[in-house]
Amino acid sequence: MSPAEAQSPVTIRTATGDDLDAVLRVGHETWRVTYEPIAGPDYVAMGLAKWWTADAVIPGIRVGRTLVADEDAAVVGMASYGSQGNELVLWKLYVLPGHQGQGIGRRLLDEVVLRASQLGHRTLHVSHIDGNDHAARFYERNGFRYTHREPGGSGLPDEIWLAKDLAKDLVMGDDQAADAASPDGSVLPDDSVPPDDSVPPGQREAR
Ligand SMILES: CC(C)(COP(=O)(O)OP(=O)(O)OC[C@H]1O[C@@H](n2cnc3c(N)ncnc32)[C@H](O)[C@@H]1OP(=O)(O)O)[C@@H](O)C(=O)NCCC(=O)NCCS
Repeated sequence: MSPAEAQSPVTIRTATGDDLDAVLRVGHETWRVTYEPIAGPDYVAMGLAKWWTADAVIPGIRVGRTLVADEDAAVVGMASYGSQGNELVLWKLYVLPGHQGQGIGRRLLDEVVLRASQLGHRTLHVSHIDGNDHAARFYERNGFRYTHREPGGSGLPDEIWLAKDLAKDLVMGDDQAADAASPDGSVLPDDSVPPDDSVPPGQREAR
C-alpha cells in the first residue's frame, strides 16, 4: 500500500443504481468549482444540463462502466469510461474539491487503466478543456501524452486530447493477464474489442 493509500481509506468500486444521486452530486459540485473560473457560468450550466442529468449518467452505470470512490461510506469521486468506435475513452474523472490531492483520482484512473487493459485495449484516451492546467498536469504525470486539439466552436473552449499507451506500463498481474487473454493466450487486439452496443449512441455520456 502506498503512503497516499494509507492516508486515504478509500474503496474503488463499480457504481450501482443506488449511487446515482451521489455521482450527480460529485459532478455538479466539482464542475462548478473547476470550470467557472476557466470557462464561465454559461459553460457550466450547459455542461451540467447536457452531461450531468440522470438520463446522461444512468447508461454508464447500467453497463458497469462507472466507478465510484467511497470514503467512510460516502461517494467522494467518480470515473466513467466508454467506447468511441474501437477506442476506449475516459469520459469523466471527478473528485470532490475537498478530497483532491489525496491520491483518489490516481486510484480511480488506475482502475480504469486496469479495466481497459483487461478489455484488450492498448490505448486509453481522455480530453480536458483548454485551460484546465491542473488536469493537464495530472494526466501528464500519469503517462498521458498530447495527441490533438479539437476546436470547441460556438464560443466553447477547445478540447485537448491525450492518450496513454497501456502497453508501456501494463498494470495487469499474471492472473489478470490470463483472464483477459484469448483462448490461444494472446491478448485480444484493439480491433477485436466489441463496441459498447448496450449504450445507444445518443445516450453515450461524456465529460
Ligand atoms: C484531476 C483530478 C481528477 C485528480 O484527482 P486527485 O484525487 O486530485 O488526484 P491525486 O490526488 O491522485 O493526484 C494529484 C496530486 O496529489 C498528490 N497526492 C497524492 N496523494 C496525496 C496525499 N495523500 N496528500 C497530498 N497529495 C497527494 C499526487 O502525488 C498528485 O501530485 P502530482 O500531480 O504533483 O503528481 C481532480 O483533481 C479533480 O477532480 N479535478 C477537478 C475536475 C477535473 O479537472 N477533472 C478532470 C476532467 S478532464
